Amino acid sequence: MSTTDQPVNANRALWEKGDFTRIAETMRESGEELVGKLGVTPGTAVLDLGSGDGTTAVPEAQLGADVLGVDIAANLVAAGNARAQSLGLTNLRFQEGDASDLNELADDSFDLVVSIFGAMFAPRPFDVAKETVRVTRPGGRIVMGNWIANDPTFVAQLLRISASYSPPPPEGFISPVTWGVEEHVVERFGAAGVPADRISCERDTYTFTFKGTPSEFLDDFRQYYGPTMNAYAAAASGREAELHAELEALVGDLNTSSSDDLTVIPAVFLRVTVSV
Ligand SMILES: C[S@@+](CC[C@H](N)C(=O)[O-])C[C@H]1O[C@@H](n2cnc3c(N)ncnc32)[C@H](O)[C@@H]1O
Repeated sequence: MSTTDQPVNANRALWEKGDFTRIAETMRESGEELVGKLGVTPGTAVLDLGSGDGTTAVPEAQLGADVLGVDIAANLVAAGNARAQSLGLTNLRFQEGDASDLNELADDSFDLVVSIFGAMFAPRPFDVAKETVRVTRPGGRIVMGNWIANDPTFVAQLLRISASYSPPPPEGFISPVTWGVEEHVVERFGAAGVPADRISCERDTYTFTFKGTPSEFLDDFRQYYGPTMNAYAAAASGREAELHAELEALVGDLNTSSSDDLTVIPAVFLRVTVSV
């Protein structure tokens, strides 16, 4: 129990622990490119769920949509609102909320619900599907970007290695990367009332672009990315060098840049589009 006698929300704690804005800085170009494919027009009512500091929410608003970013982490909500303000985007705001329980949002409120590597991290995936369908208006769409279980590219491997050094998850925990497996996606949205022929899944690629070496890039994950921070903390009692070597090899092998001061790492994800 915390000092306020509330049970600690492990999901929130994971993302408030670090500073995801540092990682998000390396994902802006791909975020903008993805948003460009979503058919956002002025006045589109968009919910960006698990928005972080707005990698996709900002370009959605720049295309003229009315955007609400919802995220479980208070620090990222504050960072998103600061970005919206500094960019003069009065059609973009961020608030705290949980993708598994969007009770503060009314039914049929949004034309488009976007969740890029966001809602996949929420507990209770069937509730995520039910809630996203509930807040989307009939005729609207849900677009999710999800890292894929067993995929050989960057984030799936980073999460796999990080998990293998972390304490076992609590009983009943469902791995976020199951959201990258089509049959789970269809089952979850099916339980929320969406037939399979209204769900499409395609592989797409996000590219991380970092000004620095692969080792410096890894350092940012070590210092600022909750799942990797947890792995280093758990490995500190004797396995830290082994973990570090494994992750150094990963980023070194996957880097496609030939320049010493630039790291470029592609990562494959599942782009899910649901017509509500
Ligand atoms: C990998 S980051 C992605 C952020 C952003 N979508 C982007 O593309 O930069 C995952 C985000 O999901 C948020 N998140 C995790 N669990 C959540 C939940 N249950 N409800 C809402 N947001 C959640 C985290 O706080 C974090 O901002």
